Amino acid sequence: MKSLFANIMKEYEGYKIGKMLCYIQDPEMISFAGGLPSSDVFPLDLIQKTAEKSLQEDPDHVLQYSAIPGEKDLMEAIIDYLQKDNIHIKLENIMITTSGQHGIDLVGRLFLEHKDIIVSDCPTFGGALASFELEDAEYMAKDIEEDGSDVKGMEAGIENLINQGRKPKFIYVVPDFQNPSSITMSLKKRLAILSTSKKYGIPLLEDSPYRELRYKGKNIPSLYSLDKNQGNVIGIYTFSKILCPGLRVGFNIGPSEVVKKFSLIKGASILNTPKLNQDICTAFLREYDLDAHFNRARKYYSEKLNFFLEAMEENFPEDMGVRWTKPEGGLFLWITMPEKINTLELFYEAAKEKVAFVPGEVCYPKGYLKHNTMRINFSYPTKDEIVEGVKRLSFVVKKYLTENRKNISAK
Ligand SMILES: Cc1ncc(COP(=O)(O)O)c(C=O)c1O
Repeated sequence: MKSLFANIMKEYEGYKIGKMLCYIQDPEMISFAGGLPSSDVFPLDLIQKTAEKSLQEDPDHVLQYSAIPGEKDLMEAIIDYLQKDNIHIKLENIMITTSGQHGIDLVGRLFLEHKDIIVSDCPTFGGALASFELEDAEYMAKDIEEDGSDVKGMEAGIENLINQGRKPKFIYVVPDFQNPSSITMSLKKRLAILSTSKKYGIPLLEDSPYRELRYKGKNIPSLYSLDKNQGNVIGIYTFSKILCPGLRVGFNIGPSEVVKKFSLIKGASILNTPKLNQDICTAFLREYDLDAHFNRARKYYSEKLNFFLEAMEENFPEDMGVRWTKPEGGLFLWITMPEKINTLELFYEAAKEKVAFVPGEVCYPKGYLKHNTMRINFSYPTKDEIVEGVKRLSFVVKKYLTENRKNISAK
């Protein structure tokens, strides 16, 4: 049957993190690999109460097909919620998605033809890469800098591509606490990338799952709010990291002509997002004490982050040549190892010692691979697991370096 698969699917490997997570299903494994928010901060009471109420009071609607663009109640609640972030939109600018990954997929389907070019950071979110690969996309990627995207490099690259008659289709960024690097884009760069987007008429895709998870420093305005409804930005949001991922609810915002198309694509692929799950999100926005919830989540995650950073300081002395980001929010650390370390090889060595991470290579666009980086998730493991896991990781790295040295001297 394989010979009948679509050409693009023949070699398609999917989201490589998924494959790796299967490899580490050992209950003794300490995993820093997933991108999981912690179930300790899920508002279980609210979810249970709302589910019960919806099923009791409105079973006909809850269990029926529902509107493709989403529940009006939820869209209105989101519109109100976004006002505090200085985003002012109407119903025609929003569509409910079945999570952030679905939101990304819709954009790929809407804009990309085979070999179309996406401008992105390097590294960037592996799930987006997997999704855009379905459309056979190519990349013009620039190394992310300490204050976010290399906007000048991107602009020069865009100019070059336009001169070759290959104008990129969109710029994909995660400006707040990027997955995987946890880097946040400065205001200066946000304004610059927006001006690049306007100058060349290339839409800016702002993927924003972590924006509420800031533990220190000042909030920086979103690209969407900076654009002031001029239609250059498409926002991708999800309830996964602020409420819980199991509900699979998110939303895309943007110009009405774009949102209308999203709805048509959604209608042809998954039809609707479960109403019950949307009702829970509406109750979360309308009835829950959001400030208290976010403060609790921020406190919980920032304690874990500080704990992880301390463990790194203790176990990775300067002379090991290992560097890591010091994030102000989000769920990840990005670690750069000495060049001679291949973190994919290290992943299998680490699995033997029962500690896991994501090898950085799943986060690089095609043609931009690097081998010496890794992504760490600090939000899910317990404090004890962090202490033990970082010790194991340090042990594995030291062992790898020693063996590597022996191999080199044996040659
Ligand atoms: C940057 C980014 N975008 C989108 C997603 C997908 O979110 P969801 O779980 O809602 O599909 C994630 C999840 O980790 C992410 O990190």
